[in-house]
Amino acid sequence: MAFIKFDNVSKSYGNQNVISGLNLEIEKGSFTVLVGPSGCGKSTLLRLIAGLEDMDEGSLFLDGKCVNHIEPKDRDIAIVFQNYALYPHMSTFENMAFGLKIRGIDKAKIKEKVTEVARSLQIEHLLDRKPKDMSGGQRQRVAIGRAIVREPKVFLFDEPLSNLDAKLRNQMRWEIAELHKRLGITTVYVTHDQVEAMTLGDNIVVLDKGVIKQQGSAKQIYDHPTDEFVAGFIGSPPMNFAKAAVVQSGGGALVYNDPIGLQILIPELEVSLTETSVTLGIRPEHLTIKAEKENMGIKGTLIHLEHLGYETFAHIKIQDLVWVVRCTGDLNFITGQSVWLEFQTGKIHLFYQA
Ligand SMILES: Nc1ncnc2c1ncn2[C@@H]1O[C@H](COP(=O)(O)OP(=O)(O)O)[C@@H](O)[C@H]1O
Ligand SMILES: [Mg+2]
Repeated sequence: MAFIKFDNVSKSYGNQNVISGLNLEIEKGSFTVLVGPSGCGKSTLLRLIAGLEDMDEGSLFLDGKCVNHIEPKDRDIAIVFQNYALYPHMSTFENMAFGLKIRGIDKAKIKEKVTEVARSLQIEHLLDRKPKDMSGGQRQRVAIGRAIVREPKVFLFDEPLSNLDAKLRNQMRWEIAELHKRLGITTVYVTHDQVEAMTLGDNIVVLDKGVIKQQGSAKQIYDHPTDEFVAGFIGSPPMNFAKAAVVQSGGGALVYNDPIGLQILIPELEVSLTETSVTLGIRPEHLTIKAEKENMGIKGTLIHLEHLGYETFAHIKIQDLVWVVRCTGDLNFITGQSVWLEFQTGKIHLFYQA
């Protein structure tokens, strides 16, 4: 039985429909990452779980019980926000103790609990400090500590690392994952950053315009995106796309777009016999740059090189399209040069027009 279950949930603000007929099941003890572009409804979903918003339609179940009419304070859920939301006039200790105090827990127990959690987050030396006297990373640790001391049934994280610099973000991300392993509390983590989602997620839910596009592990979603949106959103640099036509031909599928000189036979692939319009997708690492045509390549011009040390991203202009190819660091091509792109045909994705 799912621990958190959205059953046909819809939510609008005024006449703007933000979540439409959403169904989602989250297992007990799991770490689920909700990822999608800004404005797609991620925070709204978290607020619905926490009870900070009412839904227009559908039901939300927590631990098998419908909580549509249960107050936030009675749901036993803790949220960590991007902006920390600490009480500015309180010390770290007071911030962390606050939730326990209002639950009437005795002083000695509070002290023990707060100290223990502070130690585990390495913020014990900050217990007397106010938020203004701490760095962003330290404040975020306090906010996480405040959530943990309550031992909630569910942890919600709403883009908790967006205000931190890249290095600290990597470290905190790892710490949050470790924390989850240690505590085993059901966690829903929201981010707009697909790289963050990929590094955290055994269970990733990709959201677009309030609709779930795909759910699965990072690898499943990366290797087998179910539609063009997911394919383009997950992966950096993003997948390259071209409109094309497809027909069954001999032992495979022939994908072609004459104006851009695309003609590729994908062996042993069976395609729809009724629909011929597709979008071809190919990830940057599944193309190779050649000086001459070798196989079923497509011709373009090398217009830009991004040298990242270990690897180089080559930008290739093919008529109106610009594709990116992931190459080794010591690439021997120069900008302005004509090149041929060869495909790993087994890695081509075909998306039928919806
Ligand atoms: N309280 C609100 N009143 C009106 N519109 C809102 C409110 N909260 C969010 N929205 C709108 O709902 C959409 C989804 O918002 P949100 O859930 O915050 O997205 P995300 O967290 O994915 O960026 C956005 O278009 C946003 O402007
Ligand atoms: Mg948000």
